Amino acid sequence: MKVTWKLPDGSEITGTAEAGQSLMEAALAHDVPGVIGECGGTLSCATCHVHVAPSWVEACGGPGDFEDAMLDMADTRSEASRLSCQIEATDALDGLVLIVPEV
Ligand code: FES
Repeated sequence: MKVTWKLPDGSEITGTAEAGQSLMEAALAHDVPGVIGECGGTLSCATCHVHVAPSWVEACGGPGDFEDAMLDMADTRSEASRLSCQIEATDALDGLVLIVPEV
């Protein structure tokens, strides 16, 4: 699937994520600045925080309960916040746009 990360400086990175890969792993594979993935996707760091673009919020769904609690650690939490290690790449998300928060 294709995915675009919008960066705080206004630039964008577009790349692909393999089905089953998390969007955090895909961000690391494309050297997306601001997505660190410190805990390796075990829901214990919140350094993979992104805002889902408004038109993709419904398709991505909301955070699970534990993810929701972890998101409180993110400084710039919004209604569209997700931990990208918890978003799995699927064909249904082809074209996904994620907004990387200012760190
Ligand atoms: S990579 Fe640590 S919570 Fe997502």
